[in-house]
Amino acid sequence: MVKVTYIHADGREVTVEGRIGASVMETARANGIDGIVGECGGAMACATCHCYVDADWQAATGPRNDGEDLMLDCTAAELRDTSRLSCQIRLTPALDGLRVELPAEQH
Ligand code: FES
Repeated sequence: MVKVTYIHADGREVTVEGRIGASVMETARANGIDGIVGECGGAMACATCHCYVDADWQAATGPRNDGEDLMLDCTAAELRDTSRLSCQIRLTPALDGLRVELPAEQH
């Protein structure tokens, strides 16, 4: 298990434990984190799992893939360099302590 901290737009932080191999979206849903809906179940077809990866964790999580770029063009929330679809970030031991911010528009 690894720790993931979700930072709400109002500054509230919630840290939960996630299973290795689960996505950041699945971990949020399993722990009742509001702000990540994950409507399509991780099929990269909804963008309701948009998050901003903390700058310190950007290298560890890697770049967006082409499918993410396409979906994030349609999101209501501001697109940033750190924007990712949280369903596309799989937890590994190297991501223990990961911090992601949730767009205000998803609350
Ligand atoms: Fe739908 Fe991530 S859950 S795009």
